[in-house]
Amino acid sequence: MLLTLRGSMQRCFWTLLLLTLLLLVGRLHVDMEMLIPLFGGQTEELPVTNIMFLKTHKTASSTVLNILYRFAEAHNLSVALPAGSLFHLGYPWLFVTRYVEGVRQGSPKRHFNIMCNHLRFNLPEVQKVMPNDTLYFSILRNPVFQLESSFTYYRQYAPAFRAAPSLDAFLAAPHAYYNETLDLRNACARNHMWFDLGFDPNAPAEEGYVRARLAEAERRFPLVLIAEHFDESMVLLRRRLRWRLDDVVSFKVNSRSPGTVTRLTPEGQERAKRWCALDWRLYRHFNRTFWAALRAELGPRRLRAEVEGLRARRRELAALCLQDSAPKNRTQITDLRLQPFQSGQADILGYNLRPGLDNETLRMCQRMVMPELQYMAHLYALQFPQKPPKVIPFLKQSTSG
Ligand SMILES: *[C@@H]1O[C@H](CO)[C@@H](O)[C@H](O)[C@H]1NC(C)=O
Ligand SMILES: *[C@@H]1O[C@H](CO)[C@@H](O)[C@H](O)[C@H]1NC(C)=O
Ligand SMILES: *[C@@H]1O[C@H](CO)[C@@H](O)[C@H](O)[C@H]1NC(C)=O
Ligand SMILES: *[C@@H]1O[C@H](CO)[C@@H](O)[C@H](O)[C@H]1NC(C)=O
Ligand SMILES: *[C@@H]1O[C@H](CO)[C@@H](O)[C@H](O)[C@H]1NC(C)=O
Ligand SMILES: *[C@@H]1O[C@H](CO)[C@@H](O)[C@H](O)[C@H]1NC(C)=O
Repeated sequence: MLLTLRGSMQRCFWTLLLLTLLLLVGRLHVDMEMLIPLFGGQTEELPVTNIMFLKTHKTASSTVLNILYRFAEAHNLSVALPAGSLFHLGYPWLFVTRYVEGVRQGSPKRHFNIMCNHLRFNLPEVQKVMPNDTLYFSILRNPVFQLESSFTYYRQYAPAFRAAPSLDAFLAAPHAYYNETLDLRNACARNHMWFDLGFDPNAPAEEGYVRARLAEAERRFPLVLIAEHFDESMVLLRRRLRWRLDDVVSFKVNSRSPGTVTRLTPEGQERAKRWCALDWRLYRHFNRTFWAALRAELGPRRLRAEVEGLRARRRELAALCLQDSAPKNRTQITDLRLQPFQSGQADILGYNLRPGLDNETLRMCQRMVMPELQYMAHLYALQFPQKPPKVIPFLKQSTSG
């Protein structure tokens, strides 16, 4: 009697232990499944290193640029940098190869790994300097918010914006301010992303025309990210490029302080969609292809896990690198080399680093917060040590390190 009782208690104990173990293994299995691909064990294929990023304006593209610059520097990849004292690849003019440093007319063909500075897209010329296995990608943002950001940033630069008392006033009577024949500086005032793709921002939004251009853009850019879904975009980008998680973790650069972000009235928003009808079509189209691509790539649970993994790593790096883990305005940034370029009425934010970092960490953190002009100058000096360094006027000194 006692024996059988002890026997059944033992069985009970072993059953419980077995169940617990099974549960643990089950959980472990799920976690492993989530972890392995996150940290790059998923594929034997080499990372993509030939990349053309069409850097659209006011679309979080500076943050993407930082990611590409860091990868290029870490892997000693060549970047098609602006020639001489230029800061862009000829923008707002259509891109031609002579805007790239190191490309000479008539000299032997030179190919680069990465092209990512502002340019107005012109495929035949781009193909002259990029290898034919290049992955093309870009990023778009809801044109209502893109226009709002442009208005603040290019307020003094664009004649159409300068004359208008507010964006709502501009949108109520755009033709009173906007003269399409006047000059290219007005490109930011209407269908700016459409313009960056090399298309006509003033074309009537006729169905046949729009469809043909969208199909053309989709053929050329198999990957178009969406700024409103930035973290999901980074998940998709990392998978397509077969990069490691840390390669696509970034802090937001070139963002505005909340005080200089304004909201359009609901009526103004509807007007913005009509005024920038081509961009609105573009955005809606690629928002659809973006989600379709994500869904084809991974299930909702896996997507959530990867987005959470990315955010967790960003928080970790922010705690490691940044003073108060928070962006700073220009008066608060003590290191000149980390001060971002300011424009219009936008108060562009940057970062201070945590004091006392060891050299290796400091180097890594500096790269993550380096504003784009400074980073471009830095890469230029590395790639063309024999050339005079880029001079960044607002720093009133040449930067090379
Ligand atoms: C980087 O690449 C350049 C040219 O491709 C080469 O001359 C240089 O030695 C490389 N540097 C390193 C550290 O690999
Ligand atoms: C790639 O470009 C080279 C010239 O740069 C050309 O000879 C080759 O045929 C191209 N390959 C493909 C697959 O298009
Ligand atoms: C636009 O600018 C052009 C060139 O300065 C001028 O000839 C034309 O009259 C302007 N159009 C409008 C509507 O202001
Ligand atoms: C973009 O796509 C998402 C997911 O399908 C959808 O929820 C959202 O409304 C779309 N945005 C626009 C502006 O169409
Ligand atoms: C920068 O931030 C500080 C602290 O939040 C604030 O007092 C100051 O007015 C800000 N300066 C500018 C130029 O926005
Ligand atoms: C860290 O960098 C400083 C300045 O460049 C240098 O003097 C120092 O020796 C470095 N320390 C280590 C441990 O490499």
